[in-house]
Amino acid sequence: MPESSGNAGPRRQTHPIGDTIGQTVGVELESLVERAQAQIREVESLEELADIERSFLGKKGELTQQKKTLGSLDADARGAAGHALNDAVSTLTAVVGARRAVLAAASEAQQLEAERLDLTEVLSEVERGHLHLVTQARDRLEDVFVGMGFTVAEGPEVESAWYNFEALNIPEWHPARGSFDTIFVDLGEPEEVMLRSHTSPVQIRTMENNEPPIYIVAPGRTFRTDTADATHLPAFNQIEGLVIDRGIGLGDLAGTIDSFVKAFFGHEVKTRLRPSYFPFTEPSAEFDISTPSGDWLELGGCGVVHPAVLRNCGIDPEIWQGFAFGFGIDRLAVMRYQLDDIRELVNNDVRFLSQF
Ligand code: PHE
Repeated sequence: MPESSGNAGPRRQTHPIGDTIGQTVGVELESLVERAQAQIREVESLEELADIERSFLGKKGELTQQKKTLGSLDADARGAAGHALNDAVSTLTAVVGARRAVLAAASEAQQLEAERLDLTEVLSEVERGHLHLVTQARDRLEDVFVGMGFTVAEGPEVESAWYNFEALNIPEWHPARGSFDTIFVDLGEPEEVMLRSHTSPVQIRTMENNEPPIYIVAPGRTFRTDTADATHLPAFNQIEGLVIDRGIGLGDLAGTIDSFVKAFFGHEVKTRLRPSYFPFTEPSAEFDISTPSGDWLELGGCGVVHPAVLRNCGIDPEIWQGFAFGFGIDRLAVMRYQLDDIRELVNNDVRFLSQF
């Protein structure tokens, strides 16, 4: 190029090198610095930048090699060439430093992006709970009976001896009292206040407060001193049924039980009554339902309401008759879903409960 070969003037001003060797050093230096700058501008990683830095400024780098030639120059030329070299070194050092800062910032940004934690919470599908198996069974039973023309009645869980026993024709001396395994509450006279051992007290409360005809079901919690095992719970649920009307008999009871069992379990299920004994019904029966294997399972007790019970509630047995039934809702759920152990219903294991 004309400038570098013909006119060394401007370069001499910047690096006043006084002889041929000095001029050679100046020309070479200029192109070396340009070459280095071009490489540094294009480099894209800190590792490559370090390589380039080493190749120019390192121990065996080009500029360092040049410095070693200084010894062969005379004192004047050496000084000028030394200056020029030092300038070149500080220029390149500054350029490398600037490029390093840019690359370091970029790589830090990249790392931050890679390590960023996405804390956005995505609620794809909200998982809702659902009603407990026993509540579902109870609701369905209510639906079935309401569909048959019954209304739903309630009573307290803590009862007096009158409602739990006496009005139901179970006087104090009666051996049936013992069969109810009652949990008494320490209140008033001994054995006067108790957790109801069946839902039958709701029969009395309903008849005391309502004129016949009466068609009610009363689901609710009941309590006995039973220890929990595969077939018993000390706190369980029953549903009571009571019908009081004119000319009601055992046939109506059998028909009602058969209708509700078919509505709840399916039309293939059969029912039967077996003679039994309860002080508050006469005649009394246990009612069973058929299983696919041909066996019978006992579901509950029932019977024609005893005239003494009607009289206890101020209802004339000569005019009104009726039937009553009661059975365990928890047992019903056990049968319907063929559970191995009734305690599953109260273990509160979500893995179990979520299946129903
Ligand atoms: N209350 C009785 C029991 O818990 C069941 C029953 C209710 C029987 C109504 C007859 C009539 O065993």
